[in-house]
Amino acid sequence: MKILAIESSCDETAAAVVEDGRTVLSSVIASQVEEHRLYGGVVPEIASRRHAEAIVPVTSQALEQAGLSLGSIDALAVTYAPGLIGALLVGVNFVKGLALSTGLPLVPVHHLRSHIASNYISNKELKPPFLCLVVSGGHSHIVLVEDYTQMKIIGKTRDDAAGEAFDKAARTMGMPYPGGIALDKVAEDGDPHAFVLPRPVVHDAPYDFSFSGLKTAVLNLLHNARQKGETLNTADVCASFRYAVVDCLTTNFLKAAEALRMDKLVIAGGVSANALLRRTLQAECDKSGRQLFMPEKALCGDNAAMVGAQAFYEFQSGRRAGADLNAYATKSIEEG
Ligand code: KG4
Ligand code: ZN
Repeated sequence: MKILAIESSCDETAAAVVEDGRTVLSSVIASQVEEHRLYGGVVPEIASRRHAEAIVPVTSQALEQAGLSLGSIDALAVTYAPGLIGALLVGVNFVKGLALSTGLPLVPVHHLRSHIASNYISNKELKPPFLCLVVSGGHSHIVLVEDYTQMKIIGKTRDDAAGEAFDKAARTMGMPYPGGIALDKVAEDGDPHAFVLPRPVVHDAPYDFSFSGLKTAVLNLLHNARQKGETLNTADVCASFRYAVVDCLTTNFLKAAEALRMDKLVIAGGVSANALLRRTLQAECDKSGRQLFMPEKALCGDNAAMVGAQAFYEFQSGRRAGADLNAYATKSIEEG
């Protein structure tokens, strides 16, 4: 079954053709990151307009790369939630038009479910049930994936998402948006023990995260040094901050795995590209005999191939959208 999938939830306009949820026949991504960088973050109004301009050429290119015409596509899929509402609506309305003109079935896909599904492309043998750490710019969740379309939130952030915390800390150090990627690289040359940063815990919710205090701690560290006319070693600050964030993520994730007796662990989302997170979890899983699955780096960020992968399983479970499909800025992964 060949699915043409569209993604426009944030600042990437993407289209892909995916076969049977596992094989990518084509994947095209038009990134707007250079433009948003001028403003230090995503400007929603600009994102919507760029999606409107890019969506037709990106979709045509995805079909062309796959060597297919719309006539050989079996279903359409689109990210409908969560994300920037104006950005999501561009993809949703475009795909509804395609569905009307072709008569093809339309599958709505939850953005975080699609991030998890990037693992079905990178790890062909991976099947639920498993425990997944979903870490992106907008969300930090520990999710029990009971089945392809059945999920339960075990823990989540009470304030900032992990990616957001990385981006804000990086921005204070003058790194370009999205700073998480740059901070990760700079941290490789620093000492993670140079500065002691807090590991915030949420009382009575052992699997929940809180990153805003950690972000404030690093901002205070930088501001205090600046006021005293001191210069801190940027690589050391990055390494200490990255170590603290990764420590919080892995501690709760492994605690949840232990409590739920889950031996199959998965990571997903933009932050799953983080080098320390990948190394730390791999080492921990090797030690405890657990299996760890990660998406290949190219599939960690937003793309449409992961949407096509999840759509296959949503389609199999009977999920369909009609001409009244709407977009939602927030929507629980459990609802899908
Ligand atoms: O999943 P994603 O592409 O978009 C959302 O759905 O939000 O995640 C983007 C986030 C950004 O905050 C970005 O800085 C972060 O993922 N990110 C990283 C790394 N690569 C991307 N954070 C830390 N280390 C990385 N290597
Ligand atoms: Zn994302």
